[in-house]
Amino acid sequence: MSFGRMPIANAFLKPCQFGDEYFYELATASCGSCGTFQIIDQPDPGKMFHEAYAFFTRTSKRMVAHFADYAGWVQREFLDAADPFVVEIGCNDGAMLENFAKRGIRHLGIEPSANVAAEAARHGIRTTVSFFNSQTARQIRAHDEPADAIVAANVICHIPDLNEVARGVSELLADRGVFVFEEPYLGAMIEKGSYDQIYDEHVFIFSAGSVQNAFRRHGLDLIDVLPQATHGGSMRYVLAKQGARDARPAVAEAVAREVQQGLGRPETYETFRSRCESSRDALVDLIRKLRAEGRRVAGYGATSKSTTVLNYCGLGPQDIEFISDTTPVKQNKVTPGTHIPVLPYEAFVERYPDYAVLFAWNHEAEILAKEEKFAAAGGRWIKFVPEVIVT
Ligand code: TYD
Repeated sequence: MSFGRMPIANAFLKPCQFGDEYFYELATASCGSCGTFQIIDQPDPGKMFHEAYAFFTRTSKRMVAHFADYAGWVQREFLDAADPFVVEIGCNDGAMLENFAKRGIRHLGIEPSANVAAEAARHGIRTTVSFFNSQTARQIRAHDEPADAIVAANVICHIPDLNEVARGVSELLADRGVFVFEEPYLGAMIEKGSYDQIYDEHVFIFSAGSVQNAFRRHGLDLIDVLPQATHGGSMRYVLAKQGARDARPAVAEAVAREVQQGLGRPETYETFRSRCESSRDALVDLIRKLRAEGRRVAGYGATSKSTTVLNYCGLGPQDIEFISDTTPVKQNKVTPGTHIPVLPYEAFVERYPDYAVLFAWNHEAEILAKEEKFAAAGGRWIKFVPEVIVT
């Protein structure tokens, strides 16, 4: 399925950069033999992860709390070594590793985007600015010890060369070590029709079956899975060296559920495609109708996901007046491809729009609780996952 011409999801820009804007075709495919769902044309990672990366984990209080839970879970379930060493692939601003650091656990964050890595360092996290691959893994082993846990969140699906990840993990992991990562889940995306999970950074949308297939060939077994509510429906995967740890029953259960859901069948993706098209038409019709009635429509959260929605739907500043976002590096720029102004949060509060499109729908509970006054003032939310509705 093609979502058409697409810019880099997090490439918020200023008008003087319009001439240099990079576009590629966002199209997806699902592999009939290993079940991997992926984007076909993969922009160069250097275009996405660099010294001006726009996403900071600490912008969401709930995600910070989630990573505290995540770290606690890894420690309780798997860190049975005497003086464990934990490595995080893509540590961003250190929101996860901080939880290990606080307990005196030896750690290292590997982060290719220098600006977010600097933020992690500011929080006392030991970091190295680099992409993760087998070479990085060898270098870490040369200086430190094998890792008792390699953790990641919303990162592994960003790395086009999955085989290199697997090779690096095998290289770095201690014999009884675990590799734990969580990512947006294919089963949830298909169930909710949340096509906005598809953008350049998400090279893969994983499932238990596809993770099992991808890592098995590198001697890594999927030994546990745990569904997560984060990012609109994610899955946590735990892998270990073949034979090192027993697989928990949740793995076979998840794989069976995926077969039942039809994740291996082409018809499932045909249905998904028509659902995306209907969702796009409904959202465009609704917003254009409101605009024709003279209503003010703004967006809430200049998410990466919103780049897919806005470009696929062809919505621009004539439809959406501005999008408010709390991330300073996104503010006073415009959205990639569609050039809608991104304004600080204050712009939303100071003059409420009539309607706000909830682009950060994965933070719905946090946002709706915070924005009770908007609803009380007559403001309405436009949501588009799982269906286009006004609340
Ligand atoms: P995120 O959840 O990471 O989505 P994506 O992976 O699609 O980028 O990003 C949420 C964005 O929404 C981020 O730019 C911060 C912003 N945001 C707000 O502006 N206000 C809020 O209350 C929350 C929770 C997020």
